[in-house]
Amino acid sequence: MLSSIEHQGYYIQNESKPSSVAAELRAVMDERYKDDKFKKAGIGSGEAFTIDENVRNDSILWIENEPTNVLVKQYADFITDLLPQLNRYFFLPLKDKELMFAIYEPGSFYKKHRDRFEQNQHRFFTAVLYLTDWKEGDGGELLLYLPNETIKVTPKAGTFLIFQSELEHEVLPAVARRYSITGWITDIPIGLTFL
Ligand code: OGA
Ligand code: NI
Repeated sequence: MLSSIEHQGYYIQNESKPSSVAAELRAVMDERYKDDKFKKAGIGSGEAFTIDENVRNDSILWIENEPTNVLVKQYADFITDLLPQLNRYFFLPLKDKELMFAIYEPGSFYKKHRDRFEQNQHRFFTAVLYLTDWKEGDGGELLLYLPNETIKVTPKAGTFLIFQSELEHEVLPAVARRYSITGWITDIPIGLTFL
């Protein structure tokens, strides 16, 4: 994983979770979505934060620091365990992570952007666990713009992707509802300001 990130800017693992685990994570998301816990996602951070549905129109729910669901906790711990590995390998001072559930209803997208931007230089890596029970035609693919090529990632349940947050990427319009846990690994402790 580390050398793949170093040489290609990203690492992808298909079937990182069995479909039963993905189904349970989807059920956790569905329940909270139904309870109206999700909100429209924004762009930028701090004072630059805005909601612009022409740029992105997914709905998100930040994951708490100590997830109550065992599977969510397991995934959060997996990401936490990546920190020291990334620090050693890339000589980085990474300190924390922030994770969210994201749901794209049919027709939702996220136009080309970077996760590490002017006003927020603290995100170093973007990690996504895709959870959609995806079939051809369901849309919602991620385009990752690498220096010499663009790769297309299918948001299929179980696929795990990690990439450098300064890389441009975009989410194509979803045709079927699209589920993921998306997160960032940062060089500052994440406060609970988003709660
Ligand atoms: C993001 C994002 C990618 C994806 O939330 O910033 O680009 O495939 N997500 O969900
Ligand atoms: Ni992004």
